[in-house]
Amino acid sequence: MSNGNSYLEIKQSPELSGDVSLYGAKNAVLVIMASLLLTSGKSRLKNVPGSSDVLHMIKLLESLGAIVSFDQEAHELCVDTSGVNKWRVQPGIMKQMRASILVMGPLLARFSRADIALPGGCVIGTRPIDLHLKNLEKMGVSIDLNGSYLKTHVSRLSAQDIILDYPSVGATENIMMAAVSARGTTRIMNAALEPEVLDLMEVLKKMGARINTEIPATICIEGGHPLQPVNHELVPDRLEAGTLLCAAAITGGSVFLTNGKKEHLEVFLLKLEQMGHMISSGLDGNGILFKATQSPQAVSFKTAPYPGFPTDLQAPMMALQCLAQGKSIIDETVFENRLVHVRELQKMGAQISVEGSKAVVMGVEELYGASVIASDIRASCALAIAGLAAKGTTIMTGISHWQRGYDHLEEKFDQLGAAIGLFGLSGSPMHVSDLEVKSAEKG
Ligand code: EPZ
Repeated sequence: MSNGNSYLEIKQSPELSGDVSLYGAKNAVLVIMASLLLTSGKSRLKNVPGSSDVLHMIKLLESLGAIVSFDQEAHELCVDTSGVNKWRVQPGIMKQMRASILVMGPLLARFSRADIALPGGCVIGTRPIDLHLKNLEKMGVSIDLNGSYLKTHVSRLSAQDIILDYPSVGATENIMMAAVSARGTTRIMNAALEPEVLDLMEVLKKMGARINTEIPATICIEGGHPLQPVNHELVPDRLEAGTLLCAAAITGGSVFLTNGKKEHLEVFLLKLEQMGHMISSGLDGNGILFKATQSPQAVSFKTAPYPGFPTDLQAPMMALQCLAQGKSIIDETVFENRLVHVRELQKMGAQISVEGSKAVVMGVEELYGASVIASDIRASCALAIAGLAAKGTTIMTGISHWQRGYDHLEEKFDQLGAAIGLFGLSGSPMHVSDLEVKSAEKG
């Protein structure tokens, strides 16, 4: 992984084209790795992305006594949890990644205890965990907060009817993983039902848990059943898919995502079609086939919990609106501060104004390469996407975010024809496409 001195160099690129496959979803693999603490034995996960968040989660599991081997070439992860004998996560490890909070439910289920540090906020918002804590307390958990450290314990988790004030992904996942060991049936109402949450549910059912869903947005868990290790192939990453489609759209290209699932991106794909882009499937009905329009029309959208427009594709979609015809009004309703990338896009010539949770984008004729800073994973995608269409060269720093969220996504961009490369500060390529050739072709 890169240190703070590396950067992405993106040049104006030709139309992206070709076939590309997706790795497993980052927001599924992290919580599923945490869920393996519920079992004692060897589990195997397939199509695992080699992102730095995954490497952090490996370190966390090893710090608790798990034995982990990761074949990054084959994207296969083997986790043996039979030796897990700790329930305290070191603060240094907790702080590296917000998803660390997702070990709380499994540790309480396995050891009736979990000592963890508060994961802290990040640039997109304070990201509290009140919905996790108050509902675990309802299940009998005692929580002692001293400073930023949480010591939790429970004599016996009790099944409850839980109503979430907001369909929080993390709270739904933590409660689900605690509930599998609570005798009786726990019902989570107003639950998050993102594809990544459903993939976790699939894994828990493979372990032996009794879980089903009810309308409206309710997850029922009948706890107390013994759980076994699993073999599981991760759901493809719909957010990697959306990022690749935006890259193809902004360059006027056409790509085929061989394992993309249209049903995980319905609202996002509808918005691309409303811009004039063509969306279909492969010959066997699978995958996502995309062909860009040469005169994209601006669209407006509002982010919302699944199946609404995903907040994690708000920034990449904003980059598209910068060069579309007309006005786009983007309302970020999920996180209170997820418009930080606007400032960086303005440096590239984008016409954007922000009022509260809304950004108003007026399409322009051209963007210009600039030195920009990525503030979070999805902002890094927006800047890379804008850089593909901007005249000249864009240098993006802060790429630890890019690397947290993806496994060398620049290589997939490169494979599709983008002029993009990862460099160390000395300018030595860490992975570089034939930048000069491609940008020369662009003329
Ligand atoms: C998950 O975060 C994802 N991360 C996020 O992806 C994603 O944006 C988010 O879900 C929404 O889909 C992982 O799965 C690792 P939430 P999570 O709890 O669980 C508020 C990315 O870029 N809230 O659904 O933290 C919260 O502040 C990342 O891949 C509370 O108020 O999201 C936010 O405004 C970013 N109290 C809203 O709910 C709580 O106890 C949604 O948060 C919990 C959440």
